[in-house]
Order: sequence, then C-alpha cells, then structure tokens
Amino acid sequence: MTRTPLIVANWKMNHGLDETIKFVAEISRSTLPDKVEVVLCPPYTSLHTLSVALGEGATIKAGAQNCHFEIKGAYTGEVSVEFLKELSCEYVIIGHSERRQYFKEDNKFLNKKLHCAIEAKLIPIYCIGELESERESGDTFNVIARQMQEGLAGLAKDQIGEMVFAYEPVWAIGTGKTATPEIAQEVHAFIRKWIATNFGTLYAELPRILYGGSVTPDNAGALIAQRDIDGALVGGASLSASNFLKIISVCR
Ligand code: 13P
Repeated sequence: MTRTPLIVANWKMNHGLDETIKFVAEISRSTLPDKVEVVLCPPYTSLHTLSVALGEGATIKAGAQNCHFEIKGAYTGEVSVEFLKELSCEYVIIGHSERRQYFKEDNKFLNKKLHCAIEAKLIPIYCIGELESERESGDTFNVIARQMQEGLAGLAKDQIGEMVFAYEPVWAIGTGKTATPEIAQEVHAFIRKWIATNFGTLYAELPRILYGGSVTPDNAGALIAQRDIDGALVGGASLSASNFLKIISVCR
C-alpha cells in the first residue's frame, strides 16, 4: 500500500491577508514534487484570500484549523463546516493540542466535530498525542488509545479510511525537541495497529498518519522515511515559504 505523502502547514494565529498573499506568491514560483499533497491551514480570516490567491483547481489545498460541531445555530463566534466549504476548504484540523489545552476540548467533544466534518465531506486531520508527563510515566499508548477510542466513537470503517491522523507529542510542539524517527514510528505503528484491531487491517492501511512537533527542513526527511509516517503537520517552520518548500521537497 503506498499512500501519497501529505504536508500540511498549520499557521496557527499567524499570517494575515498580506502575508498570505506573499506566501502563496513565493510558493507558486516553485515546482512541487509530483507525488505529494500540500495543504495550507491559515487562520479563518485568511481563508478566502488564500483560496483566491491559490486559484481554482489549485494543486495546493486549503484547510481550516478548527470547526464547530453543528451546521448552524446560536453559537456566537463559531464557524460552521458549511462556511469552510464555501471558502473551498477540503481539510480541517480537529483536536489540535492547543485546542485541547487552552479551550478544554476533550475527546468526546472532538468526536462531535469529527462526525460533523465527515458528514460535510471535509477531510478531518485528527490530532492526538501525549503530554511530557504522560510519556515519562509510561502512559503514551494508553493516552493515544483513549484519544482514538473516544474520538472515533460511532464512525464507520470507510470513514476512518478517509481520515488523516496527526501524531503530535505535546512535548515536541514549538519546543525544538522533535521526537526521534524511531519514537515517532513506534507511536505511528501503534496507531495503525489500533485501527487494524478496531476497524480491520484493510482500513488501517488507508489513512495517512502525519507527524507534527518541531518539524524542520533538517529532520523532515528522516521522519517521513519511516514506514508509518505519511507526511508532516508543520507549525513554526511552515511560516516561511522557503522552509516549507524545503520540507515539501523531501518527498521527491
Ligand atoms: P511546531 O512545528 O511549531 O512545533 O508546531 C507543530 C504543530 O503544532 C503543528 O500543528
């Protein structure tokens, strides 16, 4: 089974309209490798500008960093998956550790978002990963299993097959402390095995599992070379078009 590598930029709360336009202009000057899919996830407010700058039928796709779990209603300040689709979004990040940490989003809450995104035919990038204290106490696999079990409750096999997962150890996010390729591969293999056990071997081979946490042009190649690492979810290094292009080019 060969899965097309996927490189996703999570700009977090960075890059307004001008920076978005500049980034797209810079990245568009380079030829991307044939066999890689690239997604840019700007803040909500830059999504329209991003889609216009990329143009219709662009090879680079747009994604959102979050969504609400209902299609519409009295949820002040929230954004519906339907609005994201109007902005030509194809992907949505769900359950990023910063949402879990600062906005208290838990697995059961995220499960509702996953259902909503999948029903709207957006591809969710479901983020999971352990805290440093959980790794130190030997709880990594229990934490991941719980994030999978509760987050994916009620989803069907074929829906799992179309999802993207992102293993982002919280201790590696924005810290410069990347997981070694071996540590990351061990958890990615665990995630795939968990899917095989719960949804069947065939469905475990389908989803792409990205690694995220201090990915840079220097470490991306060794990470993506691992059997179960199908790409990267890049924070800080995705803010510069030239660094992001270097990360994409490791997929050549
Ligand atoms: P950094 O690449 O800045 O560590 O962030 C990772 C991340 O949170 C991507 O979603």
